[in-house]
Amino acid sequence: MRFFIDTANLDQIKEAKDLGILDGVTTNPSLMAKEGIKGKRNIKNHYAKIAELADGGDVSAEVISTDFEGMKKEAHEFAKIAPNIVIKVPMIKDGVKTLRYLSDNGIKTNCTLIFSAGQALLAAKAGASYISPFIGRIDDITWDGIGLINQIAEMYAVQMFDTEILAASIRNSNHIVQAAIAGADIVTCPLSPILGLLKHPLTDIGLEKFLADHRKGNK
Ligand code: G3P
Repeated sequence: MRFFIDTANLDQIKEAKDLGILDGVTTNPSLMAKEGIKGKRNIKNHYAKIAELADGGDVSAEVISTDFEGMKKEAHEFAKIAPNIVIKVPMIKDGVKTLRYLSDNGIKTNCTLIFSAGQALLAAKAGASYISPFIGRIDDITWDGIGLINQIAEMYAVQMFDTEILAASIRNSNHIVQAAIAGADIVTCPLSPILGLLKHPLTDIGLEKFLADHRKGNK
């Protein structure tokens, strides 16, 4: 199971890297806007910084075009930034065409905005390297995000697809654990659900007692 961080915030990426658990980074236009990164040149420069910080780990850079020619052009521009850039493409008709084109040209892809097993099937068939099912947003509409991961994992295993399941829109630490059990290859989320995995009250109580006993014994 690999851990990607879902942010365009360089400090959060550094913190995850320092923890020694960072395998890659995902971003999207909303996350770039949140950091105030705008304009083609600034966006590319920011991706270059993220790609360097990621130390060879895959970094998803999302296209904003919705037609094949536009996506193809953006993809080639992004791919030139660094060898670890992966092109993130939305699950739309021209997106599927773009996945096939990029896959045939040896460029890694991440098909985003996946909300059904049918979409996951089509993306894998088009040669996507990763697919991003949005667990949290499915739960938001009282559907079952983790159930979808189960379904896709089973389908990919039966059909022997190489496409990896990158569970996205992770909102809490339990989502990470459940996605791991359901067969996600990777989870991507902000730093806080990752740090949440650390926490258990019995760990804090136990450590306090160990240290108090040590102090008593060493008076
Ligand atoms: O990777 C997709 C993710 O950024 C979406 O998360 O919380 O906006 O649904 P969220």
